[in-house]
Amino acid sequence: MKIVIVSILALGFAAGGAVAAPAGGDPVRGKQLYYDHGCYGCHGYGGQTGAWNLVGTSSPIVNNAQAFLFFLRQRGGFSPMIPSLAMPRFSEAALPDAQALDIQAYIKTFKLDAPDVDSIPLMGQIEASAAKSYDPGK
Ligand code: HEC
Repeated sequence: MKIVIVSILALGFAAGGAVAAPAGGDPVRGKQLYYDHGCYGCHGYGGQTGAWNLVGTSSPIVNNAQAFLFFLRQRGGFSPMIPSLAMPRFSEAALPDAQALDIQAYIKTFKLDAPDVDSIPLMGQIEASAAKSYDPGK
């Protein structure tokens, strides 16, 4: 009898686990969704250009699932106190939670790809020239 109860409990947990929200999104699916929903139009293909940088930030909106979903939904489906046309509304009907989390997972794979300033010879020449002509005594 004990074994039966334990297995029923185990089954219950297994089923519950399958229904629960996914622990994290899938960045491969997220890549397609990032394009499909036009995120790249304002944030660039790698999240580094356009309206708002998404790379190398400690913003909880980028890094925390609940904050990310809250941010996407905050202006969705109701009239906001502070209207903004900057970032569109993404209601759950337009972008379900699971898909939004896929996009977040993809955004989290973005890496800064700007070269180090010191590795660009022309930047070194400009810096040296600026340092030569800069004289705070003048
Ligand atoms: C029309 C331009 C536009 C589009 C399209 C757009 N965004 Fe944004 N996004 C912005 C702007 C502007 C901000 C700056 C803050 C604001 O508007 O509240 C922003 C901010 C963000 C932030 C907050 C970053 C931080 O540092 O906290 C995230 C995350 C984000 N966008 C994700 C997305 C995703 C995901 C999509 C696609 C589903 C998307 N954006 C589509 C313009 C856009």
